[in-house]
Amino acid sequence: MHPSNAPLPRTLVVIPTYDEREALPGTLSRLRAAVPEADVLIVDDASPDGTGEWAEAVAAQDTSVHVLHREGKQGLGPAYLAGFAWGLSRGYAQLAEMDADASHRPEQLPRLLEAVRRGADLAIGSRWVRGGAVHDWPLRRLLLSRVANLYVRFWLGLGVSDATAGYRVFRAELLHRLIAEDIASQGYCFQVDMTRRARARGAVIAEVPIDFDERTEGASKMSSGIVREALVKVTSWGLASRAQRLRSALG
Ligand code: GDD
Ligand code: MN
Repeated sequence: MHPSNAPLPRTLVVIPTYDEREALPGTLSRLRAAVPEADVLIVDDASPDGTGEWAEAVAAQDTSVHVLHREGKQGLGPAYLAGFAWGLSRGYAQLAEMDADASHRPEQLPRLLEAVRRGADLAIGSRWVRGGAVHDWPLRRLLLSRVANLYVRFWLGLGVSDATAGYRVFRAELLHRLIAEDIASQGYCFQVDMTRRARARGAVIAEVPIDFDERTEGASKMSSGIVREALVKVTSWGLASRAQRLRSALG
């Protein structure tokens, strides 16, 4: 138990944004209401729609909100790595990932934080465990997510049901070690990459059921390039780990 007189572990919620001017305000106000003790870092890739400027105006009013501006759209992976480096250098004890479009209900963040408090190094908000759900996703996206997770299971066998999930909390100690590695994943395969690296280090991973809501504002940045990168990377990680196992079996 957390002693009641000790300060709560400091939490930073990192939110990557690209053209989320419509979606971000609702997400942010729900987050501030649901978990007021958490700080927020918005990592904006110079969104043409003014998301970065809007976030800047909020940060000027609310000292718990911070903004990191990047030069252009460089992908989800690099945005998170920059956000994590920012947070770790400021001593946050746990760092969360959350999408800007409220697909991740801010009201469910306490479940993930609770899993970390109980000993997980990484809590994954999972759509594909009992109690988890996806609401209003088109069949195409449902199939893509299921097939992607089957593909990951076949090649990498990470022992999680939702390896591409983007709602997570990392304990700082684990994240320090992970971001010291050379992480090249640009798109959404960044999530799989972080999961496999956490596994390789023997981290305690907890999957927590969440409800994933389809966004009601703005548009997804999912693209064929993102799918292609994931396919190539997951296959090559799988081949490399099989070759490794074969080498050690042959002594
Ligand atoms: N800074 C930055 N740069 N942010 C980005 C970039 C980028 O290049 N690409 C996407 N984002 C941000 C979006 O603005 C949003 O806040 C978040 O990343 C997720 O992007 P979406 O485009 O909304 O993703 P999705 O809903 O299609 O995909 C969801 O499912 C994927 C597969 O399960 C997300 O939860 C992903 O994290 C997940 O991997
Ligand atoms: Mn989304």
